[in-house]
Amino acid sequence: MNLKKVFVPLPEIISDKIILREITQADAEEYRKVVADEISYRYWGYKMSEEERDVIGKIEYNRSALLKLSEITWGIAERKTNRIVGEILACKFHGTRKYPQSICEIGYRIAPEMWGKGYASLAVNALVKFIFENTNVNRIQAVVMKENPASVKVLEKNGFAKEGLLRQIKVYQCIADCYMLSILRNDFENRK
Ligand SMILES: CC(C)(COP(=O)(O)OP(=O)(O)OC[C@H]1O[C@@H](n2cnc3c(N)ncnc32)[C@H](O)[C@@H]1OP(=O)(O)O)[C@@H](O)C(=O)NCCC(=O)NCCS
Repeated sequence: MNLKKVFVPLPEIISDKIILREITQADAEEYRKVVADEISYRYWGYKMSEEERDVIGKIEYNRSALLKLSEITWGIAERKTNRIVGEILACKFHGTRKYPQSICEIGYRIAPEMWGKGYASLAVNALVKFIFENTNVNRIQAVVMKENPASVKVLEKNGFAKEGLLRQIKVYQCIADCYMLSILRNDFENRK
């Protein structure tokens, strides 16, 4: 599976209410509300970086991380208005020689003023479907801080199983107790 062919250029993922799409400089004002708000960093594992404070720098970072396939980031846009309300990313693709790139991780965040409207749940739903339908990934996982029940809910609503509590693990620059959640290809097939 050539991941570059699947993800570069970044594919648009369209569902009923949202579109996952590239974030461009034209989105800077709305994207700032997603990545340049301290509240978004409470369960993120690091403090806001210079790129994120700058936003334009973060948009450029997204582009270079996409080319390296280190982080594949989509803006979450309301379908009605095309306005960016959040971002979602897939990263850490890895596997074995026999099953290369069979595991990956996702992360997401929504502008605080747009919390509680279902956007994260819709975005996870759309991205999980896209990954299973377009790659050989067998396991999509997410690591969520214990104190972040909203994020656990988003994943469980999308068929992720809470596998257990990882104690005092490293999340970027933070040490915290985190739940490991995952959805396997079989779980996804059986939900259809
Ligand atoms: C976590 C986050 C992505 C959720 O986004 P969102 O768009 O508000 O999520 P949704 O509206 O799709 O769903 C949230 C669910 O959690 C529930 N919820 C919210 N706060 C909760 C709480 N304190 N305890 C339990 N459930 C909670 C909501 O009721 C909703 O469930 P429901 O649809 O069954 O009512 C958002 O709060 C965020 O960006 N947080 C900061 C960054 C972050 O933590 N990202 C995840 C890192 S793993």
